[in-house]
Amino acid sequence: MIDGSHESERLAIEAIRLGLDLGLTHVDTAEMYGNGRVEKMVGEAITGRRDEVFLTSKILPSNASYEGTLRACERTLKRLKTEWLDLYLLHWPGSYPIKETMQAMEKLVSEGLVRFIGVSNFDVEDVVAAKRSLKDEQLTCNQVLHHLQYRGIERRLLQYCTENEIAVVGYSPFGHDNFPSLQTAGGQVLMEIANRYGSTPRQVALNFLTHNPNIFTIPKTTQLMHARENSESVSWKLSAEDLASIDRMFPIPDQDAPLEMI
Ligand SMILES: NC(=O)c1ccc[n+]([C@@H]2O[C@H](COP(=O)([O-])OP(=O)(O)OC[C@H]3O[C@@H](n4cnc5c(N)ncnc54)[C@H](OP(=O)(O)O)[C@@H]3O)[C@@H](O)[C@H]2O)c1
Repeated sequence: MIDGSHESERLAIEAIRLGLDLGLTHVDTAEMYGNGRVEKMVGEAITGRRDEVFLTSKILPSNASYEGTLRACERTLKRLKTEWLDLYLLHWPGSYPIKETMQAMEKLVSEGLVRFIGVSNFDVEDVVAAKRSLKDEQLTCNQVLHHLQYRGIERRLLQYCTENEIAVVGYSPFGHDNFPSLQTAGGQVLMEIANRYGSTPRQVALNFLTHNPNIFTIPKTTQLMHARENSESVSWKLSAEDLASIDRMFPIPDQDAPLEMI
């Protein structure tokens, strides 16, 4: 947790840098986080290493008019001390017409300030509208809540995004602060599987959540030890049998429901 103290910010910056050393190069932030403060910290963390990073930020819906989007991006770039964003997302659907925001995003791409355009917390109908609003660029990403106890996106949304070549980036992969404890049946299953691979339950969870090639994940940590643990969640494969056990314990819901966000 970043409590705003100088020491906790220093540690968070160090965790990002260690993450880069370990290959965790997708760095996700937003103008909303700490009211711009987190973008500044990320800017500090990536100083001198910009080319190693895939850098994402998000615009608040309340800023997402055409002109507002251009201005918000300028402020974000300044805080991040960078000349470009790899990915710029609309944080969640807002009240400005999506066409306005998407056209401004295209302008940012044409100016070389943004490489890819995406959205966050968009359900299927909203993704369709955003995609249709783009004239020259593709919608490349939808960042949505996705963890073991919330797999609703693996129904319609994942299918639509995959068919339309839109990457699904799952956020809060550890359920924010609600990872299954060892006292639960789910936690036990993760532990048993982890023991067989010489890994940890959280590594098993991250590996499971990204076994579909169109799903990415962005765990957050401010601890060096945790960054190391999380970085070792990939480059190995769970067996079909283990994938099936996790699937049974943490099933995809059997009915569609509106997309949740935190
Ligand atoms: N688009 C959106 O609307 C949206 C919404 C929420 C989040 N997000 C993005 O998703 C990222 C992650 O989401 P999140 O922070 O909500 O939840 P999360 O990644 O599911 O969980 C973060 C929590 O897990 C702990 N943790 C991380 N690695 C650990 C490990 N190996 N062992 C034990 N504990 C560990 C962290 O504590 P420590 O710091 O102590 O390790 C922190 O308390 C955010 O940074 C943000 O970029 C996007």
